[in-house]
Amino acid sequence: VVKPDVKWLGMPINELKRMPECGGPLPPLKDVPGQHTVMIRTDLLQNGKVPVPYPAKFIDTWDDVHVKMPCSSWNLFPVQDEETLELQKRSRWELIKETLNNTFTSQHALQASFTSNAILKYNASQAKKWDFTALRLYCTKVLEPDAAEHLLPDMAQLALRASELCTKPIPLLKRGMNHSITMSQKQVACLLANAFFCTFPRRNSRRTEYYNYPDINFFRLFEGSSSRKIEKLKTLMCYFKSLTEQKPTGLVTFTRKSLDKPLNWKSSQTRLTNLHITCEGTIEDDGYGMLQVDFANRFVGGGVTSSGLVQEEIRFLINPELIVSRLFTEALDHNECLIITGTQQYSKYTGYGQTYQWDGSHQDTIPSDGWQRRCTEIVAIDALQFNNFLEQFRPERLNRELNKAYCGFARPEEQSINLAAVATGNWGCGVFGGDTRLKALLQMLAAAEAGRDVAYFTFGDSQLMTDVHKMHSFLTQRKISVGEVYDLLGQYYSSVCKSCLGRRPDVSLYSFIYQQVSSSLAPDDSDRGSARH
Ligand code: AR6
Repeated sequence: VVKPDVKWLGMPINELKRMPECGGPLPPLKDVPGQHTVMIRTDLLQNGKVPVPYPAKFIDTWDDVHVKMPCSSWNLFPVQDEETLELQKRSRWELIKETLNNTFTSQHALQASFTSNAILKYNASQAKKWDFTALRLYCTKVLEPDAAEHLLPDMAQLALRASELCTKPIPLLKRGMNHSITMSQKQVACLLANAFFCTFPRRNSRRTEYYNYPDINFFRLFEGSSSRKIEKLKTLMCYFKSLTEQKPTGLVTFTRKSLDKPLNWKSSQTRLTNLHITCEGTIEDDGYGMLQVDFANRFVGGGVTSSGLVQEEIRFLINPELIVSRLFTEALDHNECLIITGTQQYSKYTGYGQTYQWDGSHQDTIPSDGWQRRCTEIVAIDALQFNNFLEQFRPERLNRELNKAYCGFARPEEQSINLAAVATGNWGCGVFGGDTRLKALLQMLAAAEAGRDVAYFTFGDSQLMTDVHKMHSFLTQRKISVGEVYDLLGQYYSSVCKSCLGRRPDVSLYSFIYQQVSSSLAPDDSDRGSARH
């Protein structure tokens, strides 16, 4: 029975650990070749001051281990000489500069066509394919005339400062790499302005060396006339607008991490950690200071620059600095995650999916850490997509999801006492079709193994809140270990799922666990429900 007045169960949320209170001391921030690329002068880092780019002069690289920058001298395009008809190569950056410097008009009704004409000038081969309806609607129906006068021109000027702001080559975070990149919010802003104006070379189709990377140029954001596109544009433009009003002075770190060897789940004696579960609130609002889960796509950010608008895309829209990860993060492998620390929330929203609406600008008051990063740590972990319900109970799928979550949650270099709780919810259970009760259990196992408590947001589902809480209490009261739960999952697959020939099993996972545990504890069934010891 679900009591309507019960909004949360388990441990009170304020008893779970959050950053910065729970954190240990940070080592000094420094560039470590092969491990950590720091794009600013660490010696000049000062609270409230815009960080200084490092090195002082742009290092021009054009290779397959770094981001190909729009301002590189290797960024060329062919032009035909009118007299000799010979093909010559010209600098695309020169063309971008010329175009963006001359484009803007003060007439806001024309801003969209000026912008789209500019974008097509240096992306000439896309002229027939790209559609700017949404951008036009935004500029004519939403953008206020006096904002229009400055906003797009200011964004263009910010984009054009790329070679002055982003001087150090940005490494690609490729499959299997364990590497961090720390850059200033200012540098992120410059890169995102370039993404907006679609200046990143070789990123307009997947038929290039970037076939295994997310899209970064924003062209798909401008197409179509759906009101959701307009709401997405409102959210992103709120970010660009805020940049001109108050200069962000923080840093953001992007860390790609892989689990070198999968865990032996079966042999784990670890006990479950604490659980707070609630049917109200969200990961981003109520999980501040915790490790916040991004229900990701293997291409991080999923459909944020095109049409997607669920948990991950919304997070990337309200914290747009997350989007820059798409520039350098190759698709995640099964044993990998991406951790992003320090992004700022610039917008509020209402609704979800079809009903999503931008709800004005947001003042982010999250405190900063010793590296001048906001204490907002988000981990992108991509669940598997299931079309068939039974598939997710297969042992190799369970292992994959457990190891993925564990990779995201575990920080072997830190002490458990310094680790904030995991703020999560129905990971993999919306668009990706997973079962909430299974996924909640898998995430509790992974969090336990990582030594972290869990704050679980059921997103309005009070039955789920009750069921998961009851299961968690049952397992903790009986002191059932991670390995024992894992074993029960395996038994469920072999004795229930295997024999149900594609139909949904008639015994649910949770009833199976209750039955198995109770009967193994009380063979004669006389003390069902009592504690083991
Ligand atoms: N806080 C807590 N729970 C939430 C929130 C929130 N802010 N938003 C949604 N939920 P989904 P997936 C709950 O479908 O299945 C994207 O395109 C809500 O119950 O976003 O892992 C990615 O790029 C929702 O149904 O995650 C991937 O391509 C559930 O979380 C794909 O979707 C799952 O949200 C991932 O799909």
